[in-house]
Amino acid sequence: MQSFKDLNFCNVPQIFIGNGAIKNISDWLRKRSIKSVILVIGGKFLERTGKLNEIMQFIEKESCIIEQVECLKESDIVFIDNIVSKNYKKGIGAVIAVGGGSVIDCGKAISAMLPNGNSIGDHLNLSNKALPHSGKKVPFLAIPTTSGTGAEATKNAVVTQIGKNGYKSSIRHENFISDGIIIDGSLLVHAPKRITIFAGFDALTQLLESYFSPKTNPLNDAIILSGLEHLIDNFLSACGNGSNDIDVRQSMGYAALCSGIGLANSDLGIVHGIAVPIGAHFPIPHGAACGTLLGVSLRTNFIAMSQRDPNNICIVKMSKIGQLLTDNKHLTSTEYIEKLIETIDNWTRELELPRLGEFGINNSNFKKIVNLSVNRNNPIKLTKKEIEYIIKTRI
Ligand SMILES: [Fe+2]
Repeated sequence: MQSFKDLNFCNVPQIFIGNGAIKNISDWLRKRSIKSVILVIGGKFLERTGKLNEIMQFIEKESCIIEQVECLKESDIVFIDNIVSKNYKKGIGAVIAVGGGSVIDCGKAISAMLPNGNSIGDHLNLSNKALPHSGKKVPFLAIPTTSGTGAEATKNAVVTQIGKNGYKSSIRHENFISDGIIIDGSLLVHAPKRITIFAGFDALTQLLESYFSPKTNPLNDAIILSGLEHLIDNFLSACGNGSNDIDVRQSMGYAALCSGIGLANSDLGIVHGIAVPIGAHFPIPHGAACGTLLGVSLRTNFIAMSQRDPNNICIVKMSKIGQLLTDNKHLTSTEYIEKLIETIDNWTRELELPRLGEFGINNSNFKKIVNLSVNRNNPIKLTKKEIEYIIKTRI
């Protein structure tokens, strides 16, 4: 049993989950007497499905003025600064973001910068001159549509520039956790298969890594395990025959939310320690990078712990996850861990996760990624050689 250490659990916002839960937008605005919002959306799918209209009606019902912003890819400094400078004197009362992880991050960043008006770059950890953020923001309502990053529950907003001088950096403050979350199955059913696969692997990786983190605690573990149970029962179905099933989709949305709460409270491990720098330098979807690295990272962690730290509590925790994946009650601890790794490897194959090589990572440039990779809160500190092995195995 893990101890509480010094428990300091992050805020968990008001959460609405259900088919048609977007109707709660009106209540959320009314309770805060909000009369103008920035509405951040992703691609055209919301409009095509008629859902954008529905959402706007719930906002307009409260006599709210809407400034609409389209976020078509991960946001960089210039993009956020432009929106903030256009709107910061308008007395905007709230930001609502409806979309995937990039859209939620964009909305979160705007809500954090709107009352302040300076450049978001001032607060990013790109040089040693980063200024602390005061935490002052406008209320933020997150409506995720892809069941992946869990950004709706985290305290950081990611800003990304891909390429040679690329970066992936975050502004971070307890207050940035959203002030409301709506997970509506009628939105989630529209996520395409490829996005569902990548997002699902991101959520799965976040659940496992935050569960194995040395910083976790019993309350966090209970939420993570609940998310994992829903994900295990619904992931393959959401990517296949159950893609139109509202309950399946909402279970995946719930699992992603739990993964966000998990990582906000205990951080992540080696997979994200590699996937984040990869995402800054190569055009690889974050969930694809996480998913493709997950199986080999679990195996490397297990071998490293067995050799150098056989009493590491994560060996027991890995076995516990393996028990969720089989009805067989008579396996040994090692056999349950094998079951976990084997299941992840099977899902990686069945769902045809791409290899890193498809995104331009090869034997000539992978050393750079190895050097940029960090262990974060991995259950055991992996060596450069082990990190090199993980990446090479998935090129
Ligand atoms: Fe992630």
